[in-house]
Amino acid sequence: MNIHSKKLTIMKKNVLITGTSTGVGFESAILFAKNNYKVYATMRNLKKADKLKQRILEENLNIEVLPLDVTKVASITSVVKTIIEKDGKIDVLVNNAGAGFAKTTEQASEEEIRWVTDVNYHGVVFCTQAVLPYMRKQKSGQIISITSVGGLVGQPFNELYCGAKFAVEGFMEGLATYVSDAFNIKITCVEPGGIATEFMTSAIEKTAIKGQFATGEYAPIFDRYMAGNQKRANESKEQVYQTGIEVAEVALGIAQNENPPLRIRTSQWAEDFCKLKTKADPDGHKIVKQLQDSFL
Ligand SMILES: NC(=O)c1ccc[n+]([C@@H]2O[C@H](COP(=O)([O-])OP(=O)(O)OC[C@H]3O[C@@H](n4cnc5c(N)ncnc54)[C@H](OP(=O)(O)O)[C@@H]3O)[C@@H](O)[C@H]2O)c1
Repeated sequence: MNIHSKKLTIMKKNVLITGTSTGVGFESAILFAKNNYKVYATMRNLKKADKLKQRILEENLNIEVLPLDVTKVASITSVVKTIIEKDGKIDVLVNNAGAGFAKTTEQASEEEIRWVTDVNYHGVVFCTQAVLPYMRKQKSGQIISITSVGGLVGQPFNELYCGAKFAVEGFMEGLATYVSDAFNIKITCVEPGGIATEFMTSAIEKTAIKGQFATGEYAPIFDRYMAGNQKRANESKEQVYQTGIEVAEVALGIAQNENPPLRIRTSQWAEDFCKLKTKADPDGHKIVKQLQDSFL
């Protein structure tokens, strides 16, 4: 490698993505690599890495696969340390790992409630905390969290999942008010509606292991909810469900945006679904400005 090409390698932006075994994370790893990023694709179980490794070989992609469980702080700090040792910087974090959960609050166990909050909320906080010192020192960086329309609108039987995603939205909003201006660290929540990934299957498996979604007096309400879901899926599947690639494209667009929004829905369906909550300030720029004017 001559000096010139080494310089180019150093200048290439890198990105740490969580939850890349399937879905949005998998597609994001490939898409960011194809768009000239050095990608650190992480997953909690490397036994699931074969599909991604095959694509890396076939398409000669600049992706390194590393183990990271967002519920284990030691595994997060170890990955960040590896990236800093190799590249001396970290440009973009995509907090993508997450897990669905549908159950009544009354019937969810303590273990389930802690788990859904750990994966969907604390994982985002700990990954963000791990990269902030480096982004602050380098005076640049970007943190993108894949939240959900469920981070803006609480939905039946999903209140525990939505609560965790609301927490991510509040966390990101608070952070955006000061790290952007002070340290040039950009903050964005990407808010998809339905995505045709492993998400629902994993959620059903996880919940089914522990028992039914809803029993007793809740059962008929849950049945109505499921029937409504089915009807909506049959009538407007194309509008409701996006592909993982489509959501990955939105995340890439945000990473390439010099002035990214605080929040963005990823489809017209998602936009319409959240409109009552978002119409006054669709991209979050106004609320960040108001908070800065009030507090800073
Ligand atoms: N699919 C939807 O309808 C939908 C809608 C709105 C928002 N979202 C959000 O979009 C993001 C991506 O979801 P997806 O649709 O791509 O679902 P997915 O295919 O189920 O992917 C979720 C990813 O998160 C990983 N993960 C779960 N727990 C983890 C942990 N403790 N540590 C590290 N990784 C972990 C999974 O790994 P394993 O393979 O090891 O489980 C998987 O790689 C999530 O944040 C989700 O909440 C999804």
